[in-house]
Amino acid sequence: MAQVVLENLYKTFAGVGGPASPDAEATAPTETTVLRRIDLTIQDGEFMVLVGPSGCGKSTLLRLISGLEEITAGNIWVGQQQVNTLPPKQRDIAMVFQSYALYPHLTVYDNLAFGLRRMGASAEFLASSAAAPPDASQATDSSGVKDSLGQTAPLSAADEANHQLQAALAQRSPWQTLLSGATRRLPKGLRYLSPADRMIDQRVRTVAQMLQIDALLNRLPRQLSGGQKQRVALGRAIARNPQVFLMDEPLSNLDAKLRTETRAQIVNLQHQLGITTIYVTHDQIEAMTMGDRIAVMNQGQIQQVATPLELYRHPANRFVAAFIGSPPMNFLSVQVSAPVRLSHAQFHLTLPAAWAQMMKSYDGQPVMLGVRPEHFSLSTPAPENLPVTVRRVEALGSETYLAVQFDQDLLQVRVDPDRPFEIGEQLWLAIDPEKIHLFDPHSESALGIASTDKK
Ligand SMILES: Nc1ncnc2c1ncn2[C@@H]1O[C@H](COP(=O)(O)OP(=O)(O)OP(=O)(O)O)[C@@H](O)[C@H]1O
Ligand SMILES: [Mg+2]
Repeated sequence: MAQVVLENLYKTFAGVGGPASPDAEATAPTETTVLRRIDLTIQDGEFMVLVGPSGCGKSTLLRLISGLEEITAGNIWVGQQQVNTLPPKQRDIAMVFQSYALYPHLTVYDNLAFGLRRMGASAEFLASSAAAPPDASQATDSSGVKDSLGQTAPLSAADEANHQLQAALAQRSPWQTLLSGATRRLPKGLRYLSPADRMIDQRVRTVAQMLQIDALLNRLPRQLSGGQKQRVALGRAIARNPQVFLMDEPLSNLDAKLRTETRAQIVNLQHQLGITTIYVTHDQIEAMTMGDRIAVMNQGQIQQVATPLELYRHPANRFVAAFIGSPPMNFLSVQVSAPVRLSHAQFHLTLPAAWAQMMKSYDGQPVMLGVRPEHFSLSTPAPENLPVTVRRVEALGSETYLAVQFDQDLLQVRVDPDRPFEIGEQLWLAIDPEKIHLFDPHSESALGIASTDKK
């Protein structure tokens, strides 16, 4: 379908105040830059997940890509086309919002069909649009799409289906349009369906079935629960077979079971249709299981872009290390003694020799040691082990997590779910030296060894 390229994007909102202060009225209207230096390429057909804390700019970034918000600087490319100044309708992007944004006066059926009925119009509009360079336009022939070099790429199944629908809509005569509009509210047997209407009907019903909203097609949005509205919004985007899907936490209102099911459906569907997808979520499991790659954002900037396992195994900095993984990684301040020794007032750890080169430059200096909860194990008193006291026990059945007091810190530790633990119990923990992470205490960047050496 289409590669999406974000090139050095910035977004600044004008006239929004910072924190109130006594001098506030004396200062000029403030500007807030909420996105900085966003460089990201989402490959054709890729499923890219955006994660980051609330307010880091995820929704704003999606709104820039969709055209609902203007960029302050930079470039956005969808396929061969620079879309910076194109209105949303001409970008061939379907967005599922964090809030559902359904048409309140239309039934579920008509909400799903709405974008499809307008496809004919938008195809004509696009073909005649001066904003789209003629050779990069989306005008198609029956065999493919012409790209900016004038080469014809084969149509994907989704493109082919859209192309057929557009052709059927274009061939519809005025009386067919009138008749189908006039009979739309009548019972099924009395409705007039043109060939285009039949294609739309089939697509609406397939999508509705897939999302389990087929029993709700005649309802209005106000007659739906939050989770049902969310599925209609998702269905509306899916039905359109766009070049690009933008999804902003589309599953946040579903219950756990439906969420897992819908998650799998979205992934299957995305693989089937190959539609380039950018998906925003807060949910660790969604991010790790859905994304081909994940972009981790913080305070308007991308911190790291990598596959889920690469992020888990080799986080680029302390922020990513703390954000990916649940419960999060533990951090301890330790001192380096070359060649490969880490010292803390209460333990000394010897690292694998692969660390020696890197640690030479930190000899005698403090670094931040990162240990994931799953990389501790119960052990016996020894200089390399940590004496801890159990403060909280979270037994989930399949696994147990302990919060344990170590020195001034509270550490999260994963332990054997079959062994009982008591509050106040004293334990000794061993750290797996093959699995540790080190960070510079000032820049917070990860101190790395060649990835093939580690784990
Ligand atoms: N129209 C606007 N005017 C001024 N500031 C805005 C506007 N829209 C968003 N912001 C600010 O931009 C920042 C990023 O907001 P955004 O909605 O993109 O965050 P988010 O990562 O999607 O958060 P969440 O996970 O809570 O949805 C926030 O600080 C927000 O207050
Ligand atoms: Mg948001």
